[in-house]
Amino acid sequence: MALISWSPMLSTGVQEIDDQHKKLIDLVNKLNDAMHAGHGKEALATVLNELVKFTVYHFGTEERLMGQHKYADSTAHMGEHKKLIQDVSAFKAKFDSGNAMISTELMNFLRDWLSKHIMQTDKKFGKALNEAGVK
Ligand SMILES: [Fe+2]
Ligand SMILES: [Fe+2]
Repeated sequence: MALISWSPMLSTGVQEIDDQHKKLIDLVNKLNDAMHAGHGKEALATVLNELVKFTVYHFGTEERLMGQHKYADSTAHMGEHKKLIQDVSAFKAKFDSGNAMISTELMNFLRDWLSKHIMQTDKKFGKALNEAGVK
């Protein structure tokens, strides 16, 4: 069962960002499914890597748009991105060295972070982009 589902409530009003959010949601669900299916460490590591890589790529896209449009609230927004990357990288290092497992707790953390960040921080950014003519 999907841990998070896309809904129009999550739309930022910017197609490129929404498309990437859909892909992020798919990857979070994929990791959750792999955990519940009891897949081994190698299989989980593959999905975790994919999720981390795509998250970095996605934050890069948003931050490029912030620069292009001189977004006023970019420092706080980028700070949220940076904190998540730090947290997830620390977890990944523990996981890779065999000192952590993919858990319900981790999955709930990712779900809550993603929905809160999209609903508040990315939507606010999307609105500013819309006002600058980006759809
Ligand atoms: Fe985002
Ligand atoms: Fe963001």
